[in-house]
Amino acid sequence: MALRNKDQHRLDADAVTVVSRHYGDISEVPWDVQKYYEQRYSLFSKYDDGIWMTDDGWFGVTPEPIANSASSGTFSPERNVLIDCFAGVGGNTIAFARTHRWLRIHAIEADPTTLECAKHNAQIYGVSERISWYQGDCFEILKDAFPEQMDDCVIFASPPWGGPGYRFESVFDLSAMQPYHLSQLMACFQSVTDNIVIYLPRTSDIRQLAAIARFSSKVVVTHYCIEGASKAICAFFAK
Ligand SMILES: C[S@@+](CC[C@H](N)C(=O)[O-])C[C@H]1O[C@@H](n2cnc3c(N)ncnc32)[C@H](O)[C@@H]1O
Repeated sequence: MALRNKDQHRLDADAVTVVSRHYGDISEVPWDVQKYYEQRYSLFSKYDDGIWMTDDGWFGVTPEPIANSASSGTFSPERNVLIDCFAGVGGNTIAFARTHRWLRIHAIEADPTTLECAKHNAQIYGVSERISWYQGDCFEILKDAFPEQMDDCVIFASPPWGGPGYRFESVFDLSAMQPYHLSQLMACFQSVTDNIVIYLPRTSDIRQLAAIARFSSKVVVTHYCIEGASKAICAFFAK
């Protein structure tokens, strides 16, 4: 059943109200989201089944074809637990769950409303049973829930890129990425595993990825293209 605009979900936190909803028609969509709404079926092919989004979620979600490609990357067979550190509205988490490749998927998201969208969207795709959800700061949750090195684990991260400014940079400086720069992310993730996948802007400085790889031993960088143009990269770090 498709949800319409009246199906609006509010989590009231005093003055701060983050709203998720299913837009049924472009006339309901804020002007700055309309461009993304027009691409809704590339973001979620099951959009009309009632996908929930926050307005921020539209900007950050990984398009479904890219999420599917990234999830079918080569992972060593002994790795069967996946931690998605920045789950957003569920684009990547759902794609990983749909591969049936992972015994368990742990999905972390800081914003409670965005997390509710991800949970709901995973139900639409019929994969929620395979996912454990965590609401909070991934740096804290990794420390508390995954305090030791895990030989069976891959960490996937699609961190915020610091707004749309990356589009105007010919080479994106990963040491200045906001709010979390590359070394900060890697230092935290490496306390859990050496198998790390990070989804980054297409113009990311490959030399910075190579410099990090010196300490982890190998990095494979894959460009994901739609209609012949690179949209983003994934850096696959592994020992
Ligand atoms: C680029 S979006 C992820 C999009 C996601 N891959 C998808 O396809 O929907 C980044 C997400 O990270 C969340 N986030 C930011 N800082 C976080 C943190 N410290 N811990 C967990 N989540 C965080 C944001 O709320 C946002 O939803």
